[in-house]
Amino acid sequence: MGKNEEIEKKIGELLEKMTPEEKIGQLRQCGPSLVGAFEVSFEELLDMMFDGRISKEEFDRLMGTAKQDFREDDLRAGRIGSYNGIGDAKTANRLQKIAVEETRLGIPLLFGYDVIHGFRTVTPVPLAESCAWDDDLWERTARLAAEEATAAGVHMTFAPMVDVAKDARWGRVSEGAGEDVLLNGNYGAAKVKGFQGEELSKPDAMAACVKHFAAYGAAEAGRDYNRVDLSKQRLYEEYLPSYKACIDAGARAVMPAFNDINGVPCSVNGELLRKVLRKDWGFDGMTVSDANAIAECVAHGIARDKRDAAKQAIHAGMDMDMTSDSYHEELLSLVEDGEVYEAVLDEAVADVLRIKFELGLFEHPYKTSEEREKEAFLTPEARKLALEAAEKSIVLLKNEKGILPLRKETKIAVFGAMADDAGENTGAWAVGAHPGDCVSLLEGLKNKGADVQFYGEEKEQIPKAAETADVLLAVLGEHKEESGEAASRAYIGLPKEQILLFEALAAAKKPVIVLLMNGRPLAVPEIDEKASAVIEGWQLGVEAGNAYARVLFGEVNPSGKLTVTFPYSSGQCPVYYAHTNTGRPGGKSKFTSKYLDTPLTPVYPFGFGLSYTKFSYQDLSAVKTEEGVTVKVSVKNEGEISGEEIVQCYYRRKAAKRVGPVKKLAAYQKIFLKSGERREVVFELKREELGYYDMDMNYVTDLEDMVFYAGTNSEDTLGTVNN
Ligand code: NOJ
Repeated sequence: MGKNEEIEKKIGELLEKMTPEEKIGQLRQCGPSLVGAFEVSFEELLDMMFDGRISKEEFDRLMGTAKQDFREDDLRAGRIGSYNGIGDAKTANRLQKIAVEETRLGIPLLFGYDVIHGFRTVTPVPLAESCAWDDDLWERTARLAAEEATAAGVHMTFAPMVDVAKDARWGRVSEGAGEDVLLNGNYGAAKVKGFQGEELSKPDAMAACVKHFAAYGAAEAGRDYNRVDLSKQRLYEEYLPSYKACIDAGARAVMPAFNDINGVPCSVNGELLRKVLRKDWGFDGMTVSDANAIAECVAHGIARDKRDAAKQAIHAGMDMDMTSDSYHEELLSLVEDGEVYEAVLDEAVADVLRIKFELGLFEHPYKTSEEREKEAFLTPEARKLALEAAEKSIVLLKNEKGILPLRKETKIAVFGAMADDAGENTGAWAVGAHPGDCVSLLEGLKNKGADVQFYGEEKEQIPKAAETADVLLAVLGEHKEESGEAASRAYIGLPKEQILLFEALAAAKKPVIVLLMNGRPLAVPEIDEKASAVIEGWQLGVEAGNAYARVLFGEVNPSGKLTVTFPYSSGQCPVYYAHTNTGRPGGKSKFTSKYLDTPLTPVYPFGFGLSYTKFSYQDLSAVKTEEGVTVKVSVKNEGEISGEEIVQCYYRRKAAKRVGPVKKLAAYQKIFLKSGERREVVFELKREELGYYDMDMNYVTDLEDMVFYAGTNSEDTLGTVNN
């Protein structure tokens, strides 16, 4: 969206009328703070639950006694421009009425909310949905999320997250599209289109706030919020393009990240926010800090105090302050003392007003009603789409002797408590979710009329189960709180109890099928070794159980492919497909780059995923032209049933001015092939998309010494020789 003259004129007129206080009010985003019968803050209360000082039940009870405080006096005085976390039409419209009717200038509020993977109709967590490699699906689920969320009064979602994540220990790996920058960019662009729809002023359009700018996923050691220390070349090649893809798709807001990059926190990083984002990429939307992030610049050790943090942030190009109140408390005196020019303030306010105009809020401040909201959620069409998304997100990781799909009459003994826990399917980041909306695996199986017996965690029942059942189905993995924000893990294997349960099942001399539920890659070599079949089931939202059952019984032929590498052990992290080679790539000889106690290769590589049929690849060719390269490969369905294959195209430079990845994803296509059908897949790769940065940051696009690959996953490919 380019600048609209009429809107710019209105912004100018409004700015003329606004006092400095009113301007600063527009830059303040509040969350409803909780005032309760308890003596501690909401964050402390959460901590108390997580470290076991109070139970979940006690937490819920205390929360039930709490009231939300919206700082209405401040709102009336024009000191609030936006709220975060209000997801119901009644509250949103009540507050909007105060803004529009009771403030001096009647400027409408902007309501932001974390709509990450669905609002009420929860769809698969982003990492899962990314495994569909399906831009059209990604856009359609975002559209659904926007339809529901806007009915509840939401104007802007803090999504998509397009932080490339190469380290499985980082909990937020679940919120993005995995380890590859091209996939994250495509995923993000599709989400932006879906959220925003055709026209932002429509009642069901929701502005997209791309996050976390930038390179939040490169946190050292996979520890959340940790430092990011990256060469400029890697930042520009491996991280920035996914955000840029979202800006190119029209995203109207950006959230700078918590982390620092090479010593400068993103919240006060003028190079990123002014140069890269605005000057180089032409972004003219709004930036909003992450929660409290401006004030946190003090703890980072880059700002003396909140005042200094506020001054640095606004100078760097941070428009809105999410919940830290640094602007609210400090900006006025900074302007009065001449430390921040009013013109700088005006620039930030203009960005906020612009998005409000574009959303049509000045003409239609109430974009929803309680009546609309009543009809909006969990419609049959929404559930249908959630089911489709869930089915396409599932990745079949092992299927020995074709044990899957199961016959209808198979007797199944189910182990693992998560099989019966519908709420686990929401994932960690579905604020508007109702756990009761979800279908558990057990319900899904029962819905299909399956012959199923549930044993939970009862290991002592294994002999009985093995005697009566044909297969043992174990649901293993991690609970939803074990991934997501502030959920980094140093150990990403299964907990001991689960390993013991699995070992006991594996010893029972009946085929064991493992269904993994998790929000990150897990290091589970023992499962791969001993299970007859392994299904990556992630956290798939409201229709999870039905999707699992359809895959288990072969009503759906699985087609998902991993967008993250599954390590062999935690100590391998980070392990990712697009690594560079050392001069001594791992091999048999001692003095090569490897570990003494762990294989070098992962258990499942990037791009990996099986089908109930089999695809073969032949006749790879690559022809270079002035514009780029045309890669062709022929793919055949060799099996008995039809299926979808995600055909992947990679490249490598064998001699460049800087060492580059051994393989880099250039393109992919998802194709449907009937049994016996063959298709030639053609990739037109553009020269400017195949470049890299040299030591002086020149973008090099020569096609010298390039090798091209196409195949079924990042390791199993055909390659051209010496192109
Ligand atoms: C913190 C998270 O980092 C960010 O992703 C989220 O949007 C904000 N909190 C607001 O809830």
